[in-house]
Amino acid sequence: MKIQAKSSVNHLQKCDSLIVAIRSNTKMSRQLSDLNKLTDGAISRVEAGEQFQAKLGQVLTLSAPKGLACGSLVLFGVGDGKLKSVEVMRDALKALAKSANQTKPELVVCDFSAALQHSDPQTVCRHAVEAFADVRYRYQKQPKAARDPKPAKALKLCFQCVDKKQMSAAKSGAQIGLAISNGKTSAKDLGNMPGNVCTPTFLASRARKLGRSHNLKVKVLSEKDMGELGMGSLLSVSKGSREPAKLIIMEYFGAKNKKAAPHALVGKGLTFDAGGISLKPSGKMDEMKYDMCGAASVFGAIQAAAELKLPINIVGVVPSSENLPDGIANKPGDVVTSMSGQTIEILNTDAEGRLILCDALTYTKRFKPATVVDIATLTGAVIVALGHQTCGVMGNDQGVVDDLLAAGETSLDFAWQLPIKETYKKQLKSDYADLANIGGPSAGTITAACFLSYFTEDFKWAHLDIAGTAWGGSEGKRASGRAVPILTQYLIDQSQSA
Ligand code: BES
Ligand code: MN
Ligand code: ZN
Repeated sequence: MKIQAKSSVNHLQKCDSLIVAIRSNTKMSRQLSDLNKLTDGAISRVEAGEQFQAKLGQVLTLSAPKGLACGSLVLFGVGDGKLKSVEVMRDALKALAKSANQTKPELVVCDFSAALQHSDPQTVCRHAVEAFADVRYRYQKQPKAARDPKPAKALKLCFQCVDKKQMSAAKSGAQIGLAISNGKTSAKDLGNMPGNVCTPTFLASRARKLGRSHNLKVKVLSEKDMGELGMGSLLSVSKGSREPAKLIIMEYFGAKNKKAAPHALVGKGLTFDAGGISLKPSGKMDEMKYDMCGAASVFGAIQAAAELKLPINIVGVVPSSENLPDGIANKPGDVVTSMSGQTIEILNTDAEGRLILCDALTYTKRFKPATVVDIATLTGAVIVALGHQTCGVMGNDQGVVDDLLAAGETSLDFAWQLPIKETYKKQLKSDYADLANIGGPSAGTITAACFLSYFTEDFKWAHLDIAGTAWGGSEGKRASGRAVPILTQYLIDQSQSA
């Protein structure tokens, strides 16, 4: 996808689709009446009819309109044009993108001037780009099974603005939207891949590829390396699998000072979670191929940050493994020693995410990070609490949590805080080790975060539980590309406050 912004409006531009935002409450603006003249009264005929009242999100397509040079004219209702809620505008833009994409356009020209008069052009253009990228996303099936029609050609989205000021705002919003969309696309691709393709080794090769294309320093630790570091918790999960575990490290140096403390993103890269000996029920077990979506969003956010050339340093750390039952797999009651030295009693082998994350978090200490955010499809309980709409955020530093909450609101990739309190930590007591890996049936999302808190005491840390948001929302059984938007926005905000 390509984007462009212009400082003037020209409805005669040759394109596949011309989108014109229309307000419901005012009489025709000069621009609209010009368009009306060009089309020999098409707009007034629409206004006189009953199909289209220009309600927010209402879309009407006129194909091959006379007098214009576009394949179709798409009228986009924006209500009274005032942006009361960015979320509502985003939904309207999604509806627009869905309709406008039906003709498989290659060049789409948007005159959003009526929508932009009372609202922030940066925000509207950003979400417009994301909406188009989302509706156009297709997972490329494996070659032989491919039944999809040819992939659509890359879209070019051009925003016509009323002046230079609006143009530069539109452009910067569109650039952010594009970087986030590209990151989401990468994350969706990785998430949607089957578990037999997307293995820890495959994720490591993707990291190296991202390193080459986006100038990152990439290092991959083998099981032997991890053994030498004492990562007994992470390795205990992977020993039940034939696929070797990997610890993937990606460093982006965007700050002037290459030694400036980086922001660390630590993503759960469990490429298939059968539960281990505490085997999951077989219904919907296929969805556990998505258990690496935390890792995928780290890949996507670093890609977006690099595309935006953010002036900060970032380190991505991805512990990657499978979790399968086997003769030498973890058993309930086993005790393992983590890299931190703390021992863990594994009461449920299906609570494996925290077992791989804890060693990755301990490892992250060596980067002397400014902040650490881990992202994981950690608990089914977070879906009960927050659904597929909002991810859970918890942490040991309210500043980091607040920054993530704010980034969630800006990016519309929402997060909501749950409490980490001493009283919950008691649920992790074990008679046989320093910690148990489960905290009983209540407050599952919180006790999982409490477990991680024992490995994050040396830095400012927050945890995002994305088990609900990473896939399976209103779009069905598909990876959503979340948490790329919230993470990218968090990094943008950090780069502006640095
Ligand atoms: N990957 C799962 C979490 C999950 C479950 C995500 C369902 C999405 C849908 C995680 O490894 C897991 O199995 N968690 C257990 C923890 C429990 C054993 C304490 C869970 O949530 O059931
Ligand atoms: Mn599990
Ligand atoms: Zn898992």
